[in-house]
Amino acid sequence: MHNEYLPKKAAIEKIVEESGDTKTFTLRLKDKSDGLLRYKPGQFLMVSLPGYGEAPFTFASCPRKDGRLEISVRRVGSLTEALHKLKEKDIIGVRGPYGNWFPSDKIKGKDILFIAGGCGIAPLRSLIQYVLKNRKNYGKVEVIYGCRAPKDIFYKDEIEAWEQSKNSNVHLTVDEPDETWGGACGVVCILLPKINVNPKKSMVFLCGPSVMIKFAIRDIVKLGFKEQNIYASLERYMKCGIGKCGHCYVKGKYVCTDGPNFSYTEMKELGIES
Ligand SMILES: Cc1cc2nc3c(=O)[nH]c(=O)nc-3n(C[C@H](O)[C@H](O)[C@H](O)COP(=O)(O)OP(=O)(O)OC[C@H]3O[C@@H](n4cnc5c(N)ncnc54)[C@H](O)[C@@H]3O)c2cc1C
Ligand code: FES
Repeated sequence: MHNEYLPKKAAIEKIVEESGDTKTFTLRLKDKSDGLLRYKPGQFLMVSLPGYGEAPFTFASCPRKDGRLEISVRRVGSLTEALHKLKEKDIIGVRGPYGNWFPSDKIKGKDILFIAGGCGIAPLRSLIQYVLKNRKNYGKVEVIYGCRAPKDIFYKDEIEAWEQSKNSNVHLTVDEPDETWGGACGVVCILLPKINVNPKKSMVFLCGPSVMIKFAIRDIVKLGFKEQNIYASLERYMKCGIGKCGHCYVKGKYVCTDGPNFSYTEMKELGIES
């Protein structure tokens, strides 16, 4: 009998240290045609390790055909601590894909503004990679990414490649600059005057701490971006990931199945202004 809670095995193929508390794991599934690999940017998977439990993690890479996927894991508690101790070739459990995805059809032909804070760059990276891979289908791409300090910036080499991509700009800011830093200092909103997209025909995707989402949405709405074109990826406590346990329930919606991505219009209806 099919058991939807039963994880599949995935081998850790590569581990990259992104910052002091975050590592990116490249996972490989045995079967390249596995349904889990047919995910869309914005979705998540459940990752488990016997003896340490299970938790949701967003797909941090765009879907590809080679049987691999990436997740970026911040060390915050027992499961993530145990994941950080693993080595290449170790095996973990995975199930999914779950949740809704960023509306990739609605964004065709539009300019796109991405706003990420800290770890929030992970789900956006999946969509950024997707958009840059299918470049001709989209307009200008602007990425605003804020971190605590320069050492906390993830995907450094890749960010340089994003900047080289046609019609794309990346704007970085940190709260605590060090002697190597020549860029902007402060919250992500200070970079909004630098972006070069038409608010009326643009989509915005945000992910990061709730306070960042709240203030960034306030400022972009003032700039004329349409509420229904602003999407935020939200984190809520989850257990099952499939709409059964009720842990993530908010005003008639399950964040695990109706979300985790909501337009600002939907967020207001749910009373989650972040
Ligand atoms: C849809 C979704 C996608 C996610 N994607 C990622 C990702 O890509 N990378 C990543 O590092 N983390 C992600 N998370 C968060 C991740 O699931 C938690 O950090 C994980 O459950 C921690 O497990 P743990 O056993 O290590 O920590 P625990 O011991 O369970 O918790 C440690 C601390 O983290 C807090 N915490 C745990 N889960 C959450 C949560 N969902 N929201 C807010 N605080 C929480 C706890 O209150 C506690 O203070 C995601 C969460 C959701 C809901
Ligand atoms: S996590 Fe169980 S219902 Fe959403």
